[in-house]
Amino acid sequence: MSIHIGAAPGQIAETVLLPGDPYRAKWAAETFLSDVTCVNEVRGMLGFTGTWKGKRVTIHGSGMGMPSLSIYVNELIRDYGAQTLVRIGSCGAMQESVKVRDVVLGMAATTVSTPSRGIFRELNFAPTADFGLLHAAWTAAQARGVTTHAGNIYSSDVFYDERPDLNEQMTRHGVLAVEMEAAELYTLAARHGRRALAVLTVSDHLLTHEALPSEDRERSFGDMVEIALEAAFA
Ligand code: ADE
Repeated sequence: MSIHIGAAPGQIAETVLLPGDPYRAKWAAETFLSDVTCVNEVRGMLGFTGTWKGKRVTIHGSGMGMPSLSIYVNELIRDYGAQTLVRIGSCGAMQESVKVRDVVLGMAATTVSTPSRGIFRELNFAPTADFGLLHAAWTAAQARGVTTHAGNIYSSDVFYDERPDLNEQMTRHGVLAVEMEAAELYTLAARHGRRALAVLTVSDHLLTHEALPSEDRERSFGDMVEIALEAAFA
């Protein structure tokens, strides 16, 4: 086991899906995987390993925000050898053309800072998705008839943001949506030579203030899990 993950060696698959919410990890594993085993419960951050179409997959919570995700992704990569890491989560739309329920694929992730900031100092590193995963997710989403956007996303450190001017600049520069984890995921994947992507459902809209009704959340989340699985094994 690692410091924050109780799985035994070999219990984590090379392909890992990362929802922020550990209960979403449980729901996704029970809904989409076969032969499911719970492999982590440390601090309530649930992780499950099972098979999808005969292929081994782990679905593990990342927690909210980049400092939390950084702990789990570092350990998944360094201690368990994870190769393909796909974040599945929600985002807030920042463009009129992006609607609630649409899927957003994060081609690149803009930030004010990440837990990796100390390495880069004056350099503005551009965290980017793995192109093969991005392309495969786009194809899978199109095949499902889901309205999908691929482009820049904003990985924020704050949910209750007191700086609306920053969000306005993001909108002005074509950023599609805000979430809180992808930039650090992409940076860690780049550092360790792994593949990463964020597949996001729009749960709320910063310009129209619309929000996804709770009864629609499960279906949208399910679409995302299937797009992520299809992309990971394309
Ligand atoms: N995730 C979903 N909606 C969000 C928002 N408005 N800000 C940050 N992260 C989000």
